[in-house]
Amino acid sequence: MNLLVTGGCGFIGTNFVRFVLTRHPDWRIVNLDALTYAGNRHNLADLEAPASKDRPSRYAFVHGDIGDLALVEGLIEEHRIEAVVNFAAESHVDRSITAPDTFVRTNVLGTQAVLEACRRAKVRLVHISTDEVYGSLGPSDHPFLESTPLTPNSPYSASKAGADLLVRAYHETYGLDAVITRCSNNYGPYQFPEKLIPLMYVQAKAGQPLPVYGDGQNVRDWIYVDDHCLGVELALTKGRPGAVYNFGGAAERANLEVVRAILDTLGQPHSLIRFVTDRPGHDRRYAMDFTLAEQELGFAPTVSFEQGLARTMVWYQANAAWLAQVQSGEYRRFMDQWYGDRT
Ligand code: NAD
Ligand code: DAU
Repeated sequence: MNLLVTGGCGFIGTNFVRFVLTRHPDWRIVNLDALTYAGNRHNLADLEAPASKDRPSRYAFVHGDIGDLALVEGLIEEHRIEAVVNFAAESHVDRSITAPDTFVRTNVLGTQAVLEACRRAKVRLVHISTDEVYGSLGPSDHPFLESTPLTPNSPYSASKAGADLLVRAYHETYGLDAVITRCSNNYGPYQFPEKLIPLMYVQAKAGQPLPVYGDGQNVRDWIYVDDHCLGVELALTKGRPGAVYNFGGAAERANLEVVRAILDTLGQPHSLIRFVTDRPGHDRRYAMDFTLAEQELGFAPTVSFEQGLARTMVWYQANAAWLAQVQSGEYRRFMDQWYGDRT
């Protein structure tokens, strides 16, 4: 299969490209990425070199914006693309609070351009969405179902919900073959260190304070990134046109538990934890009911939270140079501004 992956230089996109190229020797991937602060071409640089003189590479990188319809359309035609997987997005909730405009531009308008290109070329789209579109759960509420109403609370989740509604509309109106996946919190190699797990690793490793929002009792469901990649691959190959599939890791944890586990792994004291001003509009709990994906796709998470966290800690320990490289000027600017206002 010839696949156009967008946002392949980000955290999940990088893992997905490696995951599918390993599992499908006959697949070829074109990766379209705008290389924002969160995109790192280096992540997949080893795949850019031709495999050998007479065996061309199965991977190509293209620098560009998903909002550029002519570019997306041209890539689909030039590379005889058969399906598009749209990971490209602004993904960090805290940044959406300080700069919502870029979230609307990429997540809503960018997705509309991708939809339009797929409609014109008549190719399948798998659109990567999030559990955050459903809003927040109470402690004893049933986990989110695909039929749960969309009630997003942050500019990030509102922009993702907007994109989901456009995907639905393109399917209903134009008959576009589109599938939406909604997943819970991913963790694993290559995650940008603004997100909870790698940020807490960086702070704990340096013996610096670990900023926990509010009372630390907000709950997230954690899925190891390879399990999400498996879900996306199943949605791509087996998903019903027009369907929405939830994916989760069946691993609900309070933030404080996660942070303590990281400190314990690194042999650092819990006294490094600092409770800081809460995130505005902070969703209390996410949990996923992924029965539909089990039944229709045969999806099941394979990595427990304890196994996945241990693997992730090992990866970050072994990739200190990667971590140092991504903590660039833009990273520092945002971190200083955001956490400067909270501690
Ligand atoms: P990320 O921020 O690590 O990566 C996003 C990538 O998209 C980067 O490489 C960036 O350069 C690229 N990008 C941004 N704007 C672009 C544009 N206009 N055109 C082309 N490329 C652009 O994000 P991630 O955590 O890997 O998330 C990937 C997708 O999965 C997102 O759609 C996100 O909403 C969704 N998702 C993430 C999680 C999670 O826990 N990280 C969970 C569920 C769903
Ligand atoms: O649920 C899926 C979503 O998970 C994805 O759609 C988003 O792209 C991804 O960023 C993630 O969003 P969260 O807001 O849940 O992830 P984050 O890592 O930012 O925060 C996880 C929890 O930890 C959340 O309750 C906020 C809290 N937190 C986070 C940071 C960065 C802290 O307490 N302190 C922090 O410094």
